[in-house]
Amino acid sequence: MPTLNWIGKEAVVRHHKEVPFRLLEPDKKLSHGDPTSGNLIVEGDNLHALKALLPRYAGKVQCIYIDPPYNTGKEGWIYNDNVNSPEISRWLGQTVGKEAEDLSRHDKWLCMMYPRLVLLKQFLSENGVIFISIDDNALPLLLFLLDEIFGKRNQLAVFCWRTEGNFDNQAKVKICHEYVVSYCLKIENFPHPPIIDPAIDSSSKLFRDQIRNTIVKNGPKNPVSPIKLPKGFPANFERGRLTGAKGAWPVFSEEAIIEDGKLVSEVEVSSGWSSKALAEEFIKSGCKPILDGKGQTTYFELVSSGTVEIVKDRKTSSHVVSVLQQKGSTQNTSSALSKMGIKFDYPKPVELLSYLISMIADKEALILDSFAGSGTTAHAVLKQNTEDGGDRKFILVELGKDICKDITAERVRRVAGGYTNAKGEKVEGLGGGFQYCRLSKDPLFDATGAVREDVRFAQLAEFVWFAETGTGFIGKANSPLLGVHQGMAVYLLYNGILKDKSVDGGNVLTASVLALLPPHDGPKVIYAAASRLGAPRLQRERIVFKQTPYALDV
Ligand SMILES: C[S@@+](CC[C@H](N)C(=O)[O-])C[C@H]1O[C@@H](n2cnc3c(N)ncnc32)[C@H](O)[C@@H]1O
Repeated sequence: MPTLNWIGKEAVVRHHKEVPFRLLEPDKKLSHGDPTSGNLIVEGDNLHALKALLPRYAGKVQCIYIDPPYNTGKEGWIYNDNVNSPEISRWLGQTVGKEAEDLSRHDKWLCMMYPRLVLLKQFLSENGVIFISIDDNALPLLLFLLDEIFGKRNQLAVFCWRTEGNFDNQAKVKICHEYVVSYCLKIENFPHPPIIDPAIDSSSKLFRDQIRNTIVKNGPKNPVSPIKLPKGFPANFERGRLTGAKGAWPVFSEEAIIEDGKLVSEVEVSSGWSSKALAEEFIKSGCKPILDGKGQTTYFELVSSGTVEIVKDRKTSSHVVSVLQQKGSTQNTSSALSKMGIKFDYPKPVELLSYLISMIADKEALILDSFAGSGTTAHAVLKQNTEDGGDRKFILVELGKDICKDITAERVRRVAGGYTNAKGEKVEGLGGGFQYCRLSKDPLFDATGAVREDVRFAQLAEFVWFAETGTGFIGKANSPLLGVHQGMAVYLLYNGILKDKSVDGGNVLTASVLALLPPHDGPKVIYAAASRLGAPRLQRERIVFKQTPYALDV
């Protein structure tokens, strides 16, 4: 498979590993409503924010949406990643220049995107999906990156979004579309979106909860062959006789008699068939409904016209097309925001985000946007929840300090809590709250690799759990037993969690400390500052000892 190379690639492919773990520091004043609502707004560079969020949310996010700089050469974004590479350090802190003026513009963009996409992937749940807004300018590069990081086979679609706005000014070709590129963590696990494209007419068969088709199909691909319909084969009418019309398919070996909606005795019918293997599986199952390859309940029936039909019960109707239309415009969204008292150029429309979110079957999905801008994603999440009774949560990350505080959080605050618009009218809030967080200035580990002194048990617990299991922490962090992962109990001795002042505040694994630990009948991994237990005892107790902080090299 062809891959893409660029200046700095070698240095950035592992850069996500070098980014230090920082802590999330909540700011009560800037938070809104219930701080435990599960919604978060994080102020800071998403490279660091994602690393800080990973121990809590790895593998738990069903939907990611990002709207990164499109790298048009006009956005004035600044390359700021402290990658250990001489060629990259030259770019540090510089605004990325214009096309033809800055020859490394695309290298910088690729170097910025790569580690962020690698981190984002780690957040996705088994059935998760990422949507990325982009335009023609960077689409080819982005696809190369995504194929490399997510795997080509996991591409869900490259949606073409027909943008709306003022298109009546002259140009050689007026560009009126953008893209939303989407990749799944594992395409086979991504459920059919439970929505039908709004352009579909309500009379369409897509709205029926049953699909019915004849399986009589003649032609070179389906040469004539017999199927034996056993006694008891169902019909969709109560009583009658079928012999098949002259010159029509299927041909009946003898008259078929139907009583009480069932065939009275075996009949052989010959024709070319579609779904013959499935029909034979149905007959083999005693004419009980079976599941087809897509998991749809399927059965077969004789019908009064003398043919055999396949009937599929549809659990959820799903019809998403790759062209997104009538999903609002940035201009209208910008003016809607100004009426709310918020100024932001080029916000994505709430309609677009609501549509993408509604493709996720789980109404309690966690939705992450790490280039949050004006917070459209959170707006769409709150709106969608009000409309369908869902309990989706959002995590937003925004770099600009003032943008995050005065635009992202302020918009979400107004949308959630209500506000008075520019005309002095009261607008009802949609409800919901969020916690506003910043990133700690210092990382979790200091320059010597030791855990910073002010780190609380709960903070290290999240980190240890992630280091050991690669998954987000789900426990309460009120016990040295953090949880059990695939049969292995994970313990942490830190910060006097045992309230044992004897040896190092209970941070050292001794025989007496071991006796105080919540029991687990199986293998255990214990993280502590030191161990006084000998190898035979550790082996007998099925303990793997890991010394903090050295064993925490994630
Ligand atoms: C195109 S805007 C997103 C607009 C957003 N979708 C909306 O509807 O309002 C991109 C945003 O990402 C932010 N951003 C750029 N680089 C970032 C980074 N490294 N970390 C976090 N946010 C970043 C910018 O400040 C900007 O607000």
